Amino acid sequence: MWHIAADSGVLDTNSSYAYLMWCRDFTATSVVAEIGRTVAGFVIGYRRPEAPDTLFVWQVAVDHPYRGLGLGVTMLDRLWDGLARQGVSKLETTISPDNKASIAMFSALARRRDCLLTDWPLFDRPDFPDSHEPERLYRITPKPTEE
Ligand SMILES: CC(C)(COP(=O)(O)OP(=O)(O)OC[C@H]1O[C@@H](n2cnc3c(N)ncnc32)[C@H](O)[C@@H]1OP(=O)(O)O)[C@@H](O)C(=O)NCCC(=O)NCCS
Repeated sequence: MWHIAADSGVLDTNSSYAYLMWCRDFTATSVVAEIGRTVAGFVIGYRRPEAPDTLFVWQVAVDHPYRGLGLGVTMLDRLWDGLARQGVSKLETTISPDNKASIAMFSALARRRDCLLTDWPLFDRPDFPDSHEPERLYRITPKPTEE
C-alpha cells in the first residue's frame, strides 16, 4: 500500500507505519485487491465517529498497470456492500479539483449505486501549512424516496 501510494505521484504518502496501523485497526473499513500474489490496489477508510452511517474514504489507489480495468470502483462498491449491512448508507471523500480520474471514479460509483453525488469546498489552500492543493468534499448519498 505504501509503495502504491508513493508511486501514484498524486496521493499524500503516509508513513509506512501509518499503513501498518491502518491495517491493524481499520480492516473492516479498508480493502486490498490482489491479482495473483500482487497487491494491485487498496482503499483505506473509516466510519465517521460522529456519523457512523458514513464511510469516509481516506485514500484509494490502483497501481499503474491495473488502472482503467474497473478495479477502483469495484473495490469501493464491494467495501460499501459489506458495510451497508451494518448501516453504512453514505460515503464521503475529499478530492483535489485537478484529480479527474478520482472525480470520474466516484461519479461512476454514485451511478452504479443509483445515488446522488454532491460536492463543495472543504479545505482551501490557506488551510494547509504547506503547498497542498485545495480539497473538495464529495458526498454520495441515497436519492430521496418519492412519496
Ligand atoms: C483514481 C484511481 C484509483 C482510479 O482507479 P481505476 O481502477 O483506474 O478506475 P476504474 O477503472 O475503476 O474507473 C472508474 C471510472 O473512472 C473513470 N476513470 C478512471 N481513470 C480515469 C482517468 N484517468 N480519466 C478519466 N476517467 C477515468 C473510468 O472511465 C470509469 O468511469 P466509467 O465507469 O464511467 O467508465 C487511479 O487512477 C489511481 O490510483 N490514481 C492515483 C491515486 C488517486 O488519485 N486516488 C484518488 C484520490 S484518494
